Formats: sequence, structure tokens, C-alpha cells
Amino acid sequence: DADEDLVERPPVVTIMGHVDHGKTSLLDAVRSTEVAAGEAGGITQHIGAYQVHHNGKTITFLDTPGHQAFTAMRARGARVTDIAVIVVAADDGARPQTDEAIDHAHAADVPIVVAVNKIDKEGADPTRVRTELTQRGLQPSEWGGETEYVDVSAKTHQNLEELLDTLLVVAELEELEANPNAEASGVVIESKLDPGRGPVVTVLIQRGTMRIGDALVAGAEPGRVRAMIDYRGERVQQAVPGDPVEVLGFDGVPDAGEVVRVVANDREARRLAQERETR
Ligand code: GTP
Ligand code: NA
Ligand code: MG
Repeated sequence: DADEDLVERPPVVTIMGHVDHGKTSLLDAVRSTEVAAGEAGGITQHIGAYQVHHNGKTITFLDTPGHQAFTAMRARGARVTDIAVIVVAADDGARPQTDEAIDHAHAADVPIVVAVNKIDKEGADPTRVRTELTQRGLQPSEWGGETEYVDVSAKTHQNLEELLDTLLVVAELEELEANPNAEASGVVIESKLDPGRGPVVTVLIQRGTMRIGDALVAGAEPGRVRAMIDYRGERVQQAVPGDPVEVLGFDGVPDAGEVVRVVANDREARRLAQERETR
């Protein structure tokens, strides 16, 4: 019985919020690397997917640009995120894209954790942020509500552990499980055509174990896993639920939000791809 094979899987956390409120910096601080500094003009160009290890657990983070990818995935019915972190700069407060982020999280029916960022700055007013978001239905737990708030600074790294602790507590309530022994499936997080490597498709594995040599299909694109590269840039032989991996070996470039499925063989992959194409 497949149900007996269910095991705990990492939560998938999407970081959303208004422009320049510190989404990339916060994620960067959390994994202590320098993504924001390396980006052209400090603007996020693509979705990054990363894993962070904390207290013996793993958290998968997605850093969304705009919210287009999130919307595209939802439009295709792909449930990707387990928890939404909404980043609000404490010196700026709720802004239009903060509201959009709240709407997206509600529409996806996922719990929200508010990261009140930039508390190191002069003029930072975390209480005002709480008041503004309470008016939008996100009453803080410390005020008797149901939303967890964590005051953080991506610059000074203040309270980052607390943020990760909070995410793990919220994840625990969600009872996230997956069967690593099933046939693998997942969702396309991003995709591109690389002049040297061909189609490069970032897949979030949601079920099963994906291995080198597996035949697979995503939308109208068949393929066979030639190589997988993890979020650290290292080649891996297999990927399990919660893992984001770059997959090489697709015949074409499937769109973000397409479901990825491992199938029995190349013929089956081509058949399903063609069926989809002619639909
Ligand atoms: P977009 O992806 O363009 O929407 O921006 P973002 O939300 O990812 O913000 P980003 O991380 O690029 O940060 C925007 C600016 O705020 C940068 O100049 C950061 O250095 C600065 N910043 C981010 N977090 C903090 C913080 O905690 N404190 C201070 N003082 N500055 C911060
Ligand atoms: Na920015
Ligand atoms: Mg960014």
C-alpha cells in the first residue's frame, strides 16, 4: 500500500512582498551567500530555489520575482508552496505588492508568516506594520490573532534563527508528507534554453524519487534525465520530495507551472507529450 510509504518532507516556502522590501537579501542572509550583490541592478531576474538546514530539518525556499510565476503556477493548478513568507520593510510598511502577496497566499490557501524586515533602520516601526496588516486580516498571534510575525534584519542577521524556528513550527502543523517510492512527479519552477546545455528546467520534486536515465514528460515536452544539478550547483544522481533540481535532458522548454512526471519509457513520454500537444 503506497500510503504506508509516506514520510515527512521539507516545507516549500515562498518569499513574497513589495519591491525592495528585502526578499532576496533575507533569503540570502538565511543561507549566508551573496545572491543580491551579484544580481544586475539588484533586481531579481529569475526564481531561485534553495534549501536551508536548521535544527536537523530542511526548508526549501523559493524567491519569486514579481508574482508572475506564482500566478502562472496557480493558474495551472499546481500547488507548489506550503507556507508564504510576506516580507514587509519596517521603515516603509504595507505597500501595493504587499496586498498582492497577501491575496496570492489566501488564494493558494497557505499559511502566512510575516517577516518584518529592516528593523535595523532608523524609522523602523514594526508595530505600525502589525497595525497595517491587522487591518488586512493578519492579526499577530501576540495580539490574539493567528499570524506569526518575526522582526528581522537581513543586514544585521537579527532573528533569522527565530524566523526559521517559526517556519518549522508552522510546517509541523501542516503535516507535510510524501512517498519517495512512488513514480516521481513535480512542478517546473523555471525553464530556459541554454545555448550550450539545451533546455534547462528547474523542477521541484513533490513525490517519488527522480533518477538519472528516467523517462519523463512536462506538458508537451518529453525527455530523459541526462543530468541533475542541485541548488549548490552539484551534480546529483537522484532527487526526492522537496528537492529543487535543474534537470537536463528535455527535448524542449516546458513552461513554469507545468507538471513533470516520470513515466515507464521514452515511448510513453513521447505519447503523452504528443497527446498534450494535439489537445
Ligand atoms: P526585488 O526583488 O527587486 O523586489 O527586491 P527585494 O525585495 O528582493 O529586495 P532586495 O533584497 O533587493 O533589497 C532591497 C534593498 O534593501 C537593498 O539595497 C538591500 O541592501 C536593502 N535591504 C534589504 N534588507 C535590509 C535590511 O534588513 N536592512 C537594511 N538596512 N537594508 C536592507
Ligand atoms: Na531589489
Ligand atoms: Mg529580489
